[in-house]
Amino acid sequence: NQPHLLQKSLALGQQYSSLGSQPILCGSIPGLVPKQLRFCRNYIEIMPSVAEGVKLGIQECQHQFRGRRWNCTTIKDNLAIFGPVLDKATRESAFVHAIASAGVAFAVTRSCAEGTSTMCGCDSHHKGPPGEGWKWGGCSEDAEFGVLVSREFADARENRPDARSAMNRHNNEAGRTTILDHMHLRCKCHGLSGSCEVKTCWWAQPDFRMLGDYLKDKYDSASEMVVEKHRESRGWVETLRAKYAFFKHPTERDMVYYEGSPNFCEPNQETGSFGTRDRACNLSSHGIEGCDLLCCGRGHNTRTEKRKEKCHCIFHWCCYVSCQECVRVYDVHTCK
Ligand SMILES: *[C@@H]1O[C@H](CO)[C@@H](O)[C@H](O)[C@H]1NC(C)=O
Ligand SMILES: *[C@@H]1O[C@H](CO)[C@@H](O)[C@H](O)[C@H]1NC(C)=O
Repeated sequence: NQPHLLQKSLALGQQYSSLGSQPILCGSIPGLVPKQLRFCRNYIEIMPSVAEGVKLGIQECQHQFRGRRWNCTTIKDNLAIFGPVLDKATRESAFVHAIASAGVAFAVTRSCAEGTSTMCGCDSHHKGPPGEGWKWGGCSEDAEFGVLVSREFADARENRPDARSAMNRHNNEAGRTTILDHMHLRCKCHGLSGSCEVKTCWWAQPDFRMLGDYLKDKYDSASEMVVEKHRESRGWVETLRAKYAFFKHPTERDMVYYEGSPNFCEPNQETGSFGTRDRACNLSSHGIEGCDLLCCGRGHNTRTEKRKEKCHCIFHWCCYVSCQECVRVYDVHTCK
């Protein structure tokens, strides 16, 4: 079985728990291919942002999938941070690859603009003439550099001629492209009490949350593919073709997958499903986070939970607020 785990493609292992707190020793990162090892040594200064970017991607994945059967849970203290979920060429794998490679590009770009490395900095290529009522100022974020780093590093082991490599490359690129597509001008006013006598603007990346929302939509509309084999001079090569010709062909911005997802209802070591037993569900919702769907028809248990909350808050002139502490009782529903 080929190593498809994200931790290998992005060189994250034990470092995950101690991100940023220790210097990175390239030679001690497990599972690096030679190209990644060279990259790590040449770009050691930006390796912490590479790792930070993967973490950002994972956190966003967990936010986007909270309350769903598959909730982007990672396996803690394990080399394979996502476990076998990523072994299959599913939509979930597509999303994880897209968000993590976007995270790497994003974090590297941000840290370059903050001046943390001598290798990169602000973008001076995309300036053009100033606009009506403003001039260039500040530090434009150089997303192309971040994208390049992510492409070099995250795609380094995706060079096999097989379908899975093609899928990973495609989804990694879809994630990164999102950033380039959503660069925008951010401006600041200068002058007495914000009078905006002088306005300066620079290129900025979108909010990472916005990228997460966008990629979540792409997950919902991901394209199912079929694998085709071609004989080429270098041997057999697998490529992907859209399964349903009557749908629009996926663009480089769309996510692709070619294996169906398990339903994630029952625990299954092989598919990396944790099952939904004991998961908290929402009794009044008919959506996927509702007890019917989340619990896969097994029903739910209900218990009450007491929580302390601030209450009877009073605003005092001027200016503070005082509150009392009340105990509120909540019903908590969990899947059987
Ligand atoms: C995600 O699912 C796992 C496994 O079912 C569970 O332990 C965890 O609490 C869930 N996380 C959230 C945020 O619901
Ligand atoms: C449960 O779902 C309802 C209806 O969709 C929603 O209004 C409510 O905020 C949800 N409750 C929680 C705790 O998420």
